[in-house]
Amino acid sequence: MKNFLSIESCTKESLVSLVNSAELLKEARVCGDFSDNSLKNQCWGIIFSKASTRTRVSFEVGIRELGGSALFLSPKDLQLGRGEPIKDTARVMGRMLHGAIIRNDSQVEVESFAEFSKIPTINALTDMEHPCQIIADLLTIKEIQGTWDDKKIVFLGDVNCNVAHSWVWAAERLGFELILTGPSEICNPLEYLKKVGSTKAHYVDNPIEAVSGANVLYTDVWVSMGMEDQASERDGHFNAYQINQQLTSIADSDVMVMHCLPAYREKEISETVFEENAETIFSQAENRLHAQKAIMKSLVSTN
Ligand code: CP
Ligand code: NVA
Repeated sequence: MKNFLSIESCTKESLVSLVNSAELLKEARVCGDFSDNSLKNQCWGIIFSKASTRTRVSFEVGIRELGGSALFLSPKDLQLGRGEPIKDTARVMGRMLHGAIIRNDSQVEVESFAEFSKIPTINALTDMEHPCQIIADLLTIKEIQGTWDDKKIVFLGDVNCNVAHSWVWAAERLGFELILTGPSEICNPLEYLKKVGSTKAHYVDNPIEAVSGANVLYTDVWVSMGMEDQASERDGHFNAYQINQQLTSIADSDVMVMHCLPAYREKEISETVFEENAETIFSQAENRLHAQKAIMKSLVSTN
């Protein structure tokens, strides 16, 4: 892999290999083994135009743990914020940095950065995908359920958001069953599923039917970053899709409840269900660190 820009661009083998590598890096860290210096003498840029807690901290820590150094660059301070084209920014950075991690609202711009910079480039969330999140989530499912192979995974809420899109591609590549359930009048995923040519992901309007017997219930915010102006229009449409005790009681008795965070209690998830599943949800957050170390390690070994 030269870049890590989407789950769409990954093969089944590369996804499995990243999860396995993340698992090994996690084991080494637990043992206090920080001997992996894959990023020794390297400086990576972290260019985020949207807020972040987990992604920023896990990348900054991960780069340091792999022997490199990280430079946080806000577009507000860069000439990018004053209109310098992304392809010029990329050509400058490509001559100085060893890798770049970008969060913004344009998948096209992240892909353009990768093309013009020629350095390993990672999508840390765009309008279209959030691929780093999915590697951490797959690791979490593997740790708790042993495998994702025969599992029924249900994504509830904004089924057209970046995280949902990445899950659709993960189902396609890895072959597990994914059900999307959310209010079709606000976020109809059928066009996206058609574009993907999805054979593994399906949309089910009724949340009760969707979660019946599910092994994993997954949710994300109902209003993603950059969509705040749609908050009032969305208000009230998602209530039936909240992960709460009524829905968890219909799922499998060993159901895992997952949330990519940040969470809004009593919106997409009830306070009770969130706290009952906090260990899983915060392992998911911790796994961002191990997953992203695996992604960077894989990029420097192939570039
Ligand atoms: N899940 C996630 O990407 O969190 P942050 O927005 O805090 O990075
Ligand atoms: N869909 C959310 C994910 C946050 C990690 C957003 O884009 O805001």
